[in-house]
Amino acid sequence: YTAELDASDIEKGTYPNYMLKEIDEQPAVIRKIVMAYEDDKGQVSIDEDIRGAIAASDRLYIVAAGTSYHAGLVGKQLLENLSGVPTEVHIASEFSYNMPLLSKNPLFIFISQSGETADSRAVLVHVKKLGFRTLTITNVAGSTLSREADHTLLLHAGPEIAVASTKAYTAQVAVLSILAADIANGKGMELDFDLTKELGIVANAMAALVDQKEVLENIAREYLADTRNAFYIGRAVDYFVCLESALKLKEISYIQAEGFAGGELKHGTIALIEKGTPVFALATQAHVNGSIRSNVKEVVARGANACIISLEGLNEEGDSLVLPEVHDALTPLVSVVPMQLIAYYAALQRGCDVDKPRNLAKSVTVE
Ligand code: G6P
Repeated sequence: YTAELDASDIEKGTYPNYMLKEIDEQPAVIRKIVMAYEDDKGQVSIDEDIRGAIAASDRLYIVAAGTSYHAGLVGKQLLENLSGVPTEVHIASEFSYNMPLLSKNPLFIFISQSGETADSRAVLVHVKKLGFRTLTITNVAGSTLSREADHTLLLHAGPEIAVASTKAYTAQVAVLSILAADIANGKGMELDFDLTKELGIVANAMAALVDQKEVLENIAREYLADTRNAFYIGRAVDYFVCLESALKLKEISYIQAEGFAGGELKHGTIALIEKGTPVFALATQAHVNGSIRSNVKEVVARGANACIISLEGLNEEGDSLVLPEVHDALTPLVSVVPMQLIAYYAALQRGCDVDKPRNLAKSVTVE
């Protein structure tokens, strides 16, 4: 008797599927990115050509789809807050038909794990015709978007096989943080933290979180076992992570999920809250900690089953999970990890194929 193995089983090693493997790889990916972008002074930095192209532009336009779009939203926050460069984020499939007013010297940043997404490519082709400069941030060297753009920044995440993107998202956010810090340095703006060191702290925090699988499996069971819907609420950058968290849950568990800005709940969504509705709340930002916690009280008063995930230092009694402390500009890198694992376990508990969810493709090469 000989065991039958195919190549894909070998690549997965001892993992039951690619998604779990890719979630677990995230601390290593962050460390790899730091090494790949480290200069001879031991600081993460970006190619001079790219720095120059960005310095010559007056506004950045990020264009992406799906999870990469969500990374772009976090990227805008990083770029504007750290380096003061006005940045817009656009859904690729909308851009062509609903083109925003452009600044005089725009620079376009395409974020794409695969580098093959047709919606993003259509925008790239269009803006190149208009004569604008382009940068692709992708995981695949030699991909279409990389070949066709003026510049490329690689994610160094290794092949991502599971359809639902995990390690590519955190790699995108990490590379965008390096880009933002580099632009700030180029402009002579003094950052009040050492990004190279802080990304190391992030990698350790991620490693601690992927070790909490049992806790997260239990959270998935407790909050999502019998539900048809779920909400994610957050404010400031946590809101963007909520959008990604909801997408993850939808994609692989087929539970209808939405991410909302905490303050927007009262303007409509709160009508959907009833007894037992699961609401995940992210609380990683000091300046909105009080207000997101009031939002949690509002939904709990209407019967919601609230699961609060907070950052160490901002945590309160009764929170379901406390994230290790990291720099407040980098919290999306750690807060998304438990959300990925909660989605993963919810999907498994429902017997779903986590690597190949129905109706979805890893890379969508049609518009
Ligand atoms: C597909 C995938 C998503 C992905 C999106 C964008 O819809 O299922 O997981 O986020 O495409 O892909 P890209 O390769 O451009 O990041």
